Amino acid sequence: MPQVSLRKVTQTDKKYFAKWWRDKDLLKQTSGQLKKILDSEVEKYFSQILKADGHYIIVGNKKVVGHISLEKRRSGWYETQIVIGQKNAQGKGYGTAAIKTLLHKAIGAGISKVYLEVRPVNARAIHVYEKSGFKLAGVKKYPQNKSLPQTLKMVFDKK
Ligand SMILES: CC(C)(COP(=O)(O)OP(=O)(O)OC[C@H]1O[C@@H](n2cnc3c(N)ncnc32)[C@H](O)[C@@H]1OP(=O)(O)O)[C@@H](O)C(=O)NCCC(=O)NCCS
Repeated sequence: MPQVSLRKVTQTDKKYFAKWWRDKDLLKQTSGQLKKILDSEVEKYFSQILKADGHYIIVGNKKVVGHISLEKRRSGWYETQIVIGQKNAQGKGYGTAAIKTLLHKAIGAGISKVYLEVRPVNARAIHVYEKSGFKLAGVKKYPQNKSLPQTLKMVFDKK
């Protein structure tokens, strides 16, 4: 497995997010919302990421390859999301390594309950999550959301 490191997001990373948030292939696999976002929206969402805890840049082979987050939710649960935004870096083991690194970090910080949601047709992501210790916990339905009407919820619970 390749080595990855996770580092805090810094102001100079905005260019990566601006690119990833406008990449139709990535959007189809994630939110499904393909409408091009405005520069002002990039500013707003990126500044929220900069201010929040739990957002990391994934560095693989000394290069920025993606973004992974771990955000506090209810009842001791944390939610993770990942994107290997640099498409030439996909399929090289960085996603699996980043999730494992994040879970290791979480466990070290006393966090044992982590979940994620994934588009049901995203077989590659589901495979990677299963390989990393997540188990299918159910289907979540969002009938109002035409871009993503349902997701699979997967959980990692280190008891
Ligand atoms: C999903 C994602 C995080 C995975 O990271 P990655 O670095 O590309 O994946 P890895 O190289 O670590 O592992 C890919 C695994 O999926 C397998 N795979 C590839 N295509 C597959 C498919 N169509 N179905 C099932 N498994 C597949 C590979 O064989 C490999 O498994 P193996 O190591 O057991 O052989 C990354 O591809 C990504 O960000 N994609 C776009 C956005 C996205 O889908 N994000 C997740 C939203 S929930």
